[in-house]
Amino acid sequence: MPPTLKSAVIYSHNEPPDASQLLRLFQQAPWAKGRSLDDAKEMLRHTDLTLCAWDGGRLVGFGRVLTDFIYRATIWDVIVEQAHQKQGIGTEIVRRILDHPRLKKVELFWLCTRRPGFYEKLGFSSKEQTGMVWSRNTNSRFE
Ligand SMILES: CC(C)(COP(=O)(O)OP(=O)(O)OC[C@H]1O[C@@H](n2cnc3c(N)ncnc32)[C@H](O)[C@@H]1OP(=O)(O)O)[C@@H](O)C(=O)NCCC(=O)NCCS
Repeated sequence: MPPTLKSAVIYSHNEPPDASQLLRLFQQAPWAKGRSLDDAKEMLRHTDLTLCAWDGGRLVGFGRVLTDFIYRATIWDVIVEQAHQKQGIGTEIVRRILDHPRLKKVELFWLCTRRPGFYEKLGFSSKEQTGMVWSRNTNSRFE
């Protein structure tokens, strides 16, 4: 059998991805499953920074940041396509966010997750639990 040629994953942070590609990834995430194309487009327009992982022209990983670029940043919607998981892509997305030149001054990054172990390896801690949340919909998920 010929060896499988595995294409290299590349990362981009300048342009937001196409919303329809992102919706395909959102199908995988319990909190993002029901999102609509129009809302995703609007969300991308108002997001400060996106980090994408691409395999060829296919979006295989995503993460986004809302921030004031000085004091605080929150990280949202970190998702890696199932077939591409456990290859270091999620780690690379978060690392590239933390190292991003436009975020160099930010003193505190915050996120919510049901995968604390994944983020602890990247230096995140849950020791200081000072967060509170207000939800418009009682069925909202907090990742
Ligand atoms: C959480 C998520 C983003 C992680 O993405 P990922 O690309 O699989 O992450 P990584 O490959 O960097 O790390 C995942 C695991 O694979 C391991 N890994 C990384 N590279 C590896 C490799 N080459 N070979 C084997 N294992 C590897 C990591 O050590 C890590 O182990 P852990 O599960 O014990 O933490 C992804 O699983 C996902 O999209 N899940 C669904 C949505 C979700 O839950 N998102 C989190 C929201 S806050």
